[in-house]
Amino acid sequence: MIRRRRLRVNETIRALVRETSIQISDLIYPVFVIEGKNQKNPVDSMPGIYQYSLDRIEEELVRIKDSGVKSILIFGIPKHKDEVGSEAYNEDGITQKAIRLIKSGYPEFLVVADICLCEYTSHGHCGLIQNGNILNDETLPLLAKTAVTCARAGADIIAPSDMMDGHIHAIRTALDENGFLHTTIMAYSAKYASGYYSPFRDAVHSAPGFGDRKTYQMDCANAAEAIREVYDDIKEGADIIMVKPALAYLDVIKTVATETDYPLAAYNVSGEYSMVKAAALNGWIDEKKIVLENMMAMKRAGAKIIITYHALDAAAWIKETEA
Ligand code: PBG
Ligand code: ZN
Repeated sequence: MIRRRRLRVNETIRALVRETSIQISDLIYPVFVIEGKNQKNPVDSMPGIYQYSLDRIEEELVRIKDSGVKSILIFGIPKHKDEVGSEAYNEDGITQKAIRLIKSGYPEFLVVADICLCEYTSHGHCGLIQNGNILNDETLPLLAKTAVTCARAGADIIAPSDMMDGHIHAIRTALDENGFLHTTIMAYSAKYASGYYSPFRDAVHSAPGFGDRKTYQMDCANAAEAIREVYDDIKEGADIIMVKPALAYLDVIKTVATETDYPLAAYNVSGEYSMVKAAALNGWIDEKKIVLENMMAMKRAGAKIIITYHALDAAAWIKETEA
């Protein structure tokens, strides 16, 4: 008789035949930095997540180091926002300063810089604006400049999240011209216009002042288009590709993983985090089980890398199961 249960009789054999695993080295942890002094502000819609001023960031870096997570994704929140997002490409902007500080104290950390204008523009859009339109080609040089300043500050990976066409080419060219031949590009290739980003927009005050992001981010109805986006980015020079959000787009992750052999990242975004946290804080779900099950789903679908606000908790849980 065929008995599938033979391979399930105890944890040792289950572990022996387990198809998928999550490693601490797969995880990237997002960190929010703000200007000012002595700030550790909770992000209300993301329990457990804070914005740190640079004089307080040490405590968070120690926590990350102790967790075993080695990769962090930096989001800078400037005080000054303007029409053209000047602070994004200021050599001495909050993001650049944070990268320099982190790399000087913790050179072993892999620092990923999110490249976009929306955290820095007064209108909250990811590109330049003219008559209510988000300009594409005019935005490219600013993104390239932002990437170069972050690379100069010490970023190991540049992660453009703006969804302008041609941005990977523009950024790769600028990095190369400035001598940053080994600065890696992780492209937010299939980034959807999603309702799951709203807690993040609270965290960085980047909600668009008018309209929405549907003229540049992808329509959530489309899967085949994700493949075209991914191939564009590969052709333009992306080293790592990304699908975002993760849980509502597992089919896209799976298709991209089967179609390409590039390292693939899944961004388990703020809204996905907040939903789990809210239910867990109400005692409705077991947070550890749900987080690890969700991560397993992303890995099973084909993601190698997971960007997640749960990273430090997950690292502790992964260590427990290995012990
Ligand atoms: C910036 C950016 C966003 C996220 C990452 N980079 C927000 C957006 O596009 O509105 C979302 C991250 C999250 O929700 O966790 N463009
Ligand atoms: Zn943006």
